[in-house]
Amino acid sequence: MAIGVAVPAGRSAKSILKSVERQAIVNRHFSQLTAENIMKPSYLHPAENRFYFDDADALVEYAASQGKTVHGHTLIWHYGLPNWMNDFTGDTAAWTAMMTDHITEIMSHFAAEDIVVSWDVVNEAIADIDNDENGLNDLRNSIWQDNIGAGYLAAAFRAAHAADPNADLYYNDYNIAGVPAKRNAVLDLVKQFQEDPNPVPIHGIGFQMHISVTWPDIDQIRESFALAASTGLKVKISELDIAMNTDRSRKPMSLTEFTVAVAVQQQKRYEAIVAAYMDEVPEAQRGGISVWGITDRDSWQRSYNAHEWPLLFDDDLKPKPALQGFADGLTGGM
Ligand code: G3I
Repeated sequence: MAIGVAVPAGRSAKSILKSVERQAIVNRHFSQLTAENIMKPSYLHPAENRFYFDDADALVEYAASQGKTVHGHTLIWHYGLPNWMNDFTGDTAAWTAMMTDHITEIMSHFAAEDIVVSWDVVNEAIADIDNDENGLNDLRNSIWQDNIGAGYLAAAFRAAHAADPNADLYYNDYNIAGVPAKRNAVLDLVKQFQEDPNPVPIHGIGFQMHISVTWPDIDQIRESFALAASTGLKVKISELDIAMNTDRSRKPMSLTEFTVAVAVQQQKRYEAIVAAYMDEVPEAQRGGISVWGITDRDSWQRSYNAHEWPLLFDDDLKPKPALQGFADGLTGGM
């Protein structure tokens, strides 16, 4: 099973390719890399007729040299888009052709090497609200939804499969372990794909899992993993991190210090999450578990809150008790 980590690359000062210390951690503890940013649309497709692969190629080459795979993140998203894409004009057919070309060019570029083994084809397409109160959160407004309609999702997966028939294709989203109406909307989407007379190629559901030490409740998480597994698709924890502040709306944050007690709390939570995954997802359906960053110092959460410690390695790149918790979850699961 892949154990992955999101890494900075390209021009980032923290780039894995420039940091021997970070490489040492990645090489020892992880088998798969996700580019934290440089394989998003704005990076790979900066102008309508121009793709930029140099930074991604360097990362993929590095992964290959270390015997690791790469999970592609992400092809279609409402965010992280180049300006030209946001400004694109045309009818539905033109928009569909543009989307298809975007997916085809990017996936074809990486297909031959077989290092990029899976992709988040569509990321975060479900909104956080259920306006029509049907128990399923709505599709999020985006350039894709607004210009192509709901059919963009199936079209994106079909284009992705045609471009690289060997890649595992994921639908990826946040809060689906803990918000039933959002989770159910994802399950409903998968059902529609599977029941289509010409089934839509999808291979996995990605649970981002930017969670906290207390939310979601572990039983809720287990139920969500089990329901996702019952679709027959792979289930991946794609972006795991565990915030230790339980109320992120409170300013200042409740926690000001990462004490030993807090570290142990986090260790137990990592163990519980990983064990839940191992218990609820049958082996053949395990797409793997990836954490969203190497060290607390690099975490995206730090840009919002100086007092957050969500990952497995501390600011000095030393392993935290959380790492042991993660490992215990892997071996403790049934
Ligand atoms: O590279 C520029 C730099 O040149 C500039 O000086 C700096 C000033 O703000 O910005 C830098 O770009 C930032 C980039 O991260 C690299 O650090 C962007 O502003 C910032 O928006 C971007 O944030 C990323 C975010 O996605 C938006 O794309 C985070 O690093 C990344 O961790 C986060 O990851 C997302 C997943 O893709 C999807 N799921 C949620 C997850 C967390 O938000």
